[in-house]
Amino acid sequence: MSLLTMKSSLFFALILTATTASAVDFKTQIAPIFRNKCYACHSVTKKVKGKLALDDDKLPEQIGAGKNIIPGQGAKSTMYVNCTLPNDDADVMPPEGKNKLTDAELATFKAWIDEGASLTGGGAAPAPAPAAMPAAAGGVMKWTNTEGKTIEAEFMGLQGDGVLLKIPSTGVTHILPLSKLSAESQAQAKAATK
Ligand code: HEC
Repeated sequence: MSLLTMKSSLFFALILTATTASAVDFKTQIAPIFRNKCYACHSVTKKVKGKLALDDDKLPEQIGAGKNIIPGQGAKSTMYVNCTLPNDDADVMPPEGKNKLTDAELATFKAWIDEGASLTGGGAAPAPAPAAMPAAAGGVMKWTNTEGKTIEAEFMGLQGDGVLLKIPSTGVTHILPLSKLSAESQAQAKAATK
């Protein structure tokens, strides 16, 4: 893949992330984890260890580049990473791995950060995968990537292992590797080529 192609597909992946509602809802899915597993030591209503309060109104202080929660980068966010450490690691949270997050909670936590760590958004169900549509010549179709984000774009053809998609609002065509699309969207691209 050329560097230019790589750049545009990266850009495109960002668009896919930025334009869709997040699927993890802070209030119903993340706040309860903090309440049950962290508040004992990180809440203004109880104790504030490590100068870290995870109350809803204190959380914005933790979110941002270089902070404990880096929107879009779960795997690089200290808050998440510390929760995944082995029980004997000095930095594991909760300490000594007591009342540790379950695998499901960790996955939800990471997904929430990956989706932008929104305190207000979310709650929207992931967009249903579009059914494979016949080639509506020049028509705008829904495309879903492997992470379940959906955008609307015009199918412009296949190029090697990439699919050319034009964003109606900008008129710019992007190349997205087919492998980054859901199985349904890959099928849709192949069907549209015929
Ligand atoms: C039993 C008490 C306790 C619980 C429960 C606990 N923590 Fe902590 N946490 C601490 C202490 C004490 C520190 C300070 C450690 C230090 O500075 O060496 C700390 C520090 C941290 C830090 C580093 C803060 C910074 O900016 O330096 C993070 C991040 C963190 N905790 C996240 C969490 C999360 C997320 C949870 C819930 C899943 C949690 N903690 C649960 C006691 C706790």
